[in-house]
Amino acid sequence: MSHLDDLFAFLSIPSVSALPEHAADVERCADFLVAKLSSLGFAAKKHLTDIHPIVVAHSPKVEGKPTVLIYGHYDVMPVDPLAEWISDPFTPTVRDGRVYARGASDDKGEIMALIHGVERVLREDGALPLNVTFLLEGEEERGSESLFRFVQSPEVQQELACDVMVVSDTGMAAPDVPSFSYGLKGLCCFELEVSAPAMDLHSGIFGGAVANPITTLCEMIATTHDENNHITVEGFYDGVSEIADWERESWKRVPGMSDTELAQLTGVPQLRTETGFSGAECVYARPTFELNGISGGYEGTGSKTVIPTKAFAKMSCRLVPGQDPARIQDLCEAHFRKVCPPSVRMKFTRGHIGAAYLSDPHSPYGKAAQQALESTFGNPPVLVREGGSIPIVAEISQRLGKDALFLGLDLPDARIHSPNENMRLDIFEKGITMTATMLRLMARAC
Ligand code: BES
Ligand code: MN
Ligand code: MN
Repeated sequence: MSHLDDLFAFLSIPSVSALPEHAADVERCADFLVAKLSSLGFAAKKHLTDIHPIVVAHSPKVEGKPTVLIYGHYDVMPVDPLAEWISDPFTPTVRDGRVYARGASDDKGEIMALIHGVERVLREDGALPLNVTFLLEGEEERGSESLFRFVQSPEVQQELACDVMVVSDTGMAAPDVPSFSYGLKGLCCFELEVSAPAMDLHSGIFGGAVANPITTLCEMIATTHDENNHITVEGFYDGVSEIADWERESWKRVPGMSDTELAQLTGVPQLRTETGFSGAECVYARPTFELNGISGGYEGTGSKTVIPTKAFAKMSCRLVPGQDPARIQDLCEAHFRKVCPPSVRMKFTRGHIGAAYLSDPHSPYGKAAQQALESTFGNPPVLVREGGSIPIVAEISQRLGKDALFLGLDLPDARIHSPNENMRLDIFEKGITMTATMLRLMARAC
């Protein structure tokens, strides 16, 4: 099969990890990868877990050469709102040099570019110049629960032993400006439920006498930031490291990341950053506290004069090196307990967590990767950190004692997680070239 046939077949499988009705599709996607990697001579195995399978595949052993561990995820985000898609999310469709499909960029396009980079070296050179292990999971978009458990086992750590980890699951500044990322944000999620009356009440008969849970929830949430958009949760910034001067300078030159460009790309009338920091600095290196959803009460047609019994909010914090995600959850719970008035009850529920990650961009492997990016895309990569998270990376890196390198291909307009997700086909092709070049350079230089 040609590389595009492979990509389209991969994109046609609706491997949505969050939805139980797609469990069989997720498994079929793992089978697809096992078959593909086996056809390249890899020893590929599907490991069943309590949720979705993990695929591990090893190239034939090359003695005395380093091992590159390639991590990626073959699961995708749900597609809703489906009506916003111009073509069906699981019928890959080419328009204007881009393939449109859920997962086209995050992360199936990137994985397939890596696999076909390996395939190209095999075809052109007859064999790989070093050892490659693929570790592909089906739960990244829902928190990687099974992989966290999997990598705790000493046998698995031995099987995954490597010299460096390569991840293509991050952003790229512009089509001709590659990004070499050396950091990911951490993440912690939680939910808050505020309740007061035992049932929905008539807002005239009881209004004014009891607390309204929605109003109280909003008041509590409003206490989390001050007028400088600084987070007021006590202890939140403990251990947060300063942005280095070289980082500030380097980030000023990242195409598309000026405050004006960020406003234009996102469609906001004006940015709203933490006072004293640019948009890029906030995205790359400042912790955040976000509301992801809020609900409660009557949301149907017309009006209904009611004091609802409950209100809910889903929240998450993006974290930077120095912040412990479980501790941040504790601090946020303590904050809400402190500001919760006696007229309501509150329930705080913890969700998934992952630590931030920072690596050394200047290691010999890092240099080989940057050289591969430069020779493929015609410009040196910009050095950036990511605002996004891949929670399992810090865990694997720590367990194996090795650094991860991020060579992302997601353009700012790739619409990952959104309707009409896409990947430029020329970028996909370059991803293949970049992978082949990187493997050859690493085998020579490391
Ligand atoms: N590939 C993304 C992360 C990403 C995208 C990093 C672009 C940098 C640039 C990943 O699949 C993702 O979406 N991660 C989630 C975390 C997960 C626990 C839901 C995220 O960052 O929200
Ligand atoms: Mn991803
Ligand atoms: Mn994602």
